[in-house]
Amino acid sequence: MSGLVFTELSDYAEKLIRGRHATRAFRPEAVPGDTMRAIFSLAGTAPSNSNAQPWRVEVVSGARRERLSDALRAAHAEQRTTADFPYSEGMYAPVHQERRAAFGAGLYGALGIGPDDHAARAAYDAESLRFYGAPHAAFLFVTGDGGARLAADVGAYMQTLLLAMAAYGVDSCPQGLLSFYADTVRDELGVDEGKLLVGISFGYAEESAPVNRVTTERAALEATTTFHV
Ligand SMILES: Cc1cc2nc3c(=O)[nH]c(=O)nc-3n(C[C@H](O)[C@H](O)[C@H](O)COP(=O)(O)O)c2cc1C
Repeated sequence: MSGLVFTELSDYAEKLIRGRHATRAFRPEAVPGDTMRAIFSLAGTAPSNSNAQPWRVEVVSGARRERLSDALRAAHAEQRTTADFPYSEGMYAPVHQERRAAFGAGLYGALGIGPDDHAARAAYDAESLRFYGAPHAAFLFVTGDGGARLAADVGAYMQTLLLAMAAYGVDSCPQGLLSFYADTVRDELGVDEGKLLVGISFGYAEESAPVNRVTTERAALEATTTFHV
């Protein structure tokens, strides 16, 4: 590969990777079927330990998406949470909590929801089970024993998928919240294997929505990465 081509590729990668952001308001237009197939086919090139590819991907659109959204909101209202992967606030280190707080302030600020307005935050969470208005959602299951190593492979698949979507002009939002209703997703989609890691809403951004202009910072390189020589 010539130096010139390589420079162009890195420029493109910078634009693609830095240009992907979580979208939380979508237009209703569907992603064309051939674009969808191209995106998920590209995502399948993700690396995995020994090339085991331990992901199982379920994509919902149309009437099935409506039914699933209704079922998720019913489960949420009845507090029927069933998370395959345990969650607790205690899993975060203090520095993580600081970053989460900064993110929350930016997000809820853009939505006009005050820091102590827990009712409004809860209502926004419940509403997000409509996939933020996206016409499609993908659910990523970890097959095999669903352990940490296999979940890491599915994490690599997730980011490859998000970037494949970005490359095809499709916007997305990974939603961990969707994974808290694993049994509901399984029942609605007839899935009988794997642990639900995450759901991803996708489609085309509603550019005028203020929530889509939320920006997120990243830790300085030195805070996360050491180059040993
Ligand atoms: C595994 C995972 C779970 C997430 N869960 C949610 C979620 O439940 N709801 C939401 O609005 N965003 C969720 N996000 C999006 C993150 O908030 C977002 O990626 C992060 O703040 C960085 O912002 P950016 O994606 O715009 O760069 C999730 C992201 C990941 C990777």
